[in-house]
Amino acid sequence: MATIAVIGTGYVGLTAGACLASMGHAVTCVDIDEAKINQLRQGGSPIVEQGLEELLREGLATGRLAFTADLAAAVADSAFVFLCLPTPSRADGSADVSYVIEAAREVGGMLPSGAIVVNKSTLPIGSTLRVAAALQRSDVHVVSNPEFLREGTAVEDFFHPDRIVIGCIDREAGQKVAALYGEITARVIITDPASAEMIKYASNTFLATKISFINAVAAICEQVGADVQDVAAGMGADPRIGAQFLAAGPGWGGSCFPKDAQAFVTIAADAGNDFHLLKSAIQTNEEQIDRVIAKVAAAVGGRLAGATIAVWGLTFKAGTDDLRDSPALKVCARLHEAGVARIQVFDPTVTVARAGIPPYLHIASGALEASRAADVLVVLTEWSEFREVEPGTVHAQMRQASVVDTRNHLDRELWRRSGAIYQGAGR
Ligand SMILES: NC(=O)c1ccc[n+]([C@@H]2O[C@H](COP(=O)([O-])OP(=O)(O)OC[C@H]3O[C@@H](n4cnc5c(N)ncnc54)[C@H](O)[C@@H]3O)[C@@H](O)[C@H]2O)c1
Repeated sequence: MATIAVIGTGYVGLTAGACLASMGHAVTCVDIDEAKINQLRQGGSPIVEQGLEELLREGLATGRLAFTADLAAAVADSAFVFLCLPTPSRADGSADVSYVIEAAREVGGMLPSGAIVVNKSTLPIGSTLRVAAALQRSDVHVVSNPEFLREGTAVEDFFHPDRIVIGCIDREAGQKVAALYGEITARVIITDPASAEMIKYASNTFLATKISFINAVAAICEQVGADVQDVAAGMGADPRIGAQFLAAGPGWGGSCFPKDAQAFVTIAADAGNDFHLLKSAIQTNEEQIDRVIAKVAAAVGGRLAGATIAVWGLTFKAGTDDLRDSPALKVCARLHEAGVARIQVFDPTVTVARAGIPPYLHIASGALEASRAADVLVVLTEWSEFREVEPGTVHAQMRQASVVDTRNHLDRELWRRSGAIYQGAGR
């Protein structure tokens, strides 16, 4: 069993730390956010992630998981240091690697001899070498080990990954990192650092492109009278295509796809390539918001100004509390700009105003409350509880029974039978 320090306890670092501790490693998680560290020490998870809190409590009870804001103390005896720091977008779209490079500079003088630094953050091609240069330690190896977990199922994904990607110059160091995942049965792909870094960007942007593709198809379906649900089922039955990521919706968002897509465009541009395929996927995604707004406007007879809109769902997808780059927030912002009088929102993970929620959103405590006196209901996130709400009770709250279901999430027939004017996506 290894001693591991995890720097950055966000969605990736906290999940990795808790899961590695549950596999028997001695893990110390470090963060600069002291409030977060205090909450974690009490066994409370700062994020909504299925199964995570149980693992935190288990790790604290066994003594295999610890939390600190003291970087030097955490890394002093660690054989492995995982960098799980943010890599947000810069103004030009490129990935801001300064959190990672600064941390590498800082730990450079603290690491024990023979330690291995593991890049888990999503980092542009060449970053393994940049981190190695920032460390200024010839006795420390750097290994790229990109993370593929999905928010909402992060713990499950950590224990059951589709693959473990290791990018290394020193093969022995790479194998030591692979061995940390010992009991996990997944294909291990060991490659050079640049290829490992590229696998992460290519994978995320391929999935984003797949969603843009089906959203573009959905728009055509509406014009020619086809049903994108049936089209996606027919396409997805072909194993070369696959059924996942073929759901029409308000567009891709979240903390990864948008920033990684922009970063990959800049990585390509720096290498002299105009990645117009990915640029088109990004543009299609932006146009998706226009399509949603047009549908909502049509539902209120073209007069958004003065309307009251009910919104179900704010997170970028169900199962997470993450609001970063959520299409739902973009739709709300556009409605607000268009002069909508009131936007009443319900999301199961957003019960009180918090960072990232603009002041013009009225947070409701339930789906029915959000619908009160609304001119139209817009479904933006696929929370399963929305399907449980009885349409008639919603109508009774609303000024008119009009629904724009951007994800084809509700039962269309049920809502139509109940007398609602229901509009889905691509059908
Ligand atoms: N969120 C995902 O689903 C996901 C999936 C795969 C890969 N990634 C990648 O993993 C990386 C981390 O993403 P995330 O979503 O976990 O980020 P996050 O914003 O949730 O967490 C980052 C954490 O790092 C902490 N931090 C910042 N500077 C620090 C410092 N100097 N020292 C210690 N802690 C510091 C922050 O306080 C925060 O808790 C990114 O590169 C992201 O692209 C994310």
